[in-house]
Amino acid sequence: MSRKAFIAGNWKMNMTAESGEKLIKELAPLVKNASCDVALCVPAILIPAMTKAAQGTNIKIGAENVHWAKSGAYTGEISTDMLKEYGVEYVIIGHSERRQYFGETDESVNKRTLAALAAGLTPIVCVGELLEERENGSTEKVLDKQLTVGLNGIEDITKVVIAYEPVWAIGTGKTATDEQAQETIAYIRKKIGELFCPKCAEKVVIQYGGSMNAGNCKGLMAQPDIDGGLIGGASLKLDFATIVNYDK
Ligand code: 13P
Repeated sequence: MSRKAFIAGNWKMNMTAESGEKLIKELAPLVKNASCDVALCVPAILIPAMTKAAQGTNIKIGAENVHWAKSGAYTGEISTDMLKEYGVEYVIIGHSERRQYFGETDESVNKRTLAALAAGLTPIVCVGELLEERENGSTEKVLDKQLTVGLNGIEDITKVVIAYEPVWAIGTGKTATDEQAQETIAYIRKKIGELFCPKCAEKVVIQYGGSMNAGNCKGLMAQPDIDGGLIGGASLKLDFATIVNYDK
């Protein structure tokens, strides 16, 4: 079994063309010898400028969302064609902030994921439980539904990246312990094995996300089922390079 590690940043609604370009220029030499795949998922409006800034580097530029329709009357949305025009390869789908603030559901996550795959993009599908759900013991039940509905109808699950982001760990500084993250990600892999096939599940890249930083990345990345990270706050600074170089 060999899964290539994948560290991706999620800029969320941060940065401008100017500050983003500056950061990418500074990060590029620091991450150029990375053994993992590296991406920064940025606000849609910054994609053209960030793609340009990252040209000739090993930093791939990704998007933070994509719509399922080819085109049409969907004010404020972005299509797969629009992303592909700029060479985008990765797109985050179903981030908990989309679920929490913008009504994203497992059903809409599924539609976006299928559309991304059909267009040849790699979806980074986010799943994870709320604090209340962890505390009342329903983490596995919540993940079961997110995975069963969100990944329904996918032909080749190995083309999907999963990001396990416990909602209580996002932006809170409260990281899941190495053991908690490992245990839950192993569960996700097992569930994917049941939904698809155990062999395919072994090939699926599963990231951890939620207050992952320069200090805790090594311990998390040392876990057998954790193949990478989806990094929020720490991807807005040079700490991102330290995370990318977790094995150096
Ligand atoms: P933080 O790293 O800021 O906790 O955010 C994680 C996240 O939501 C990445 O998608």
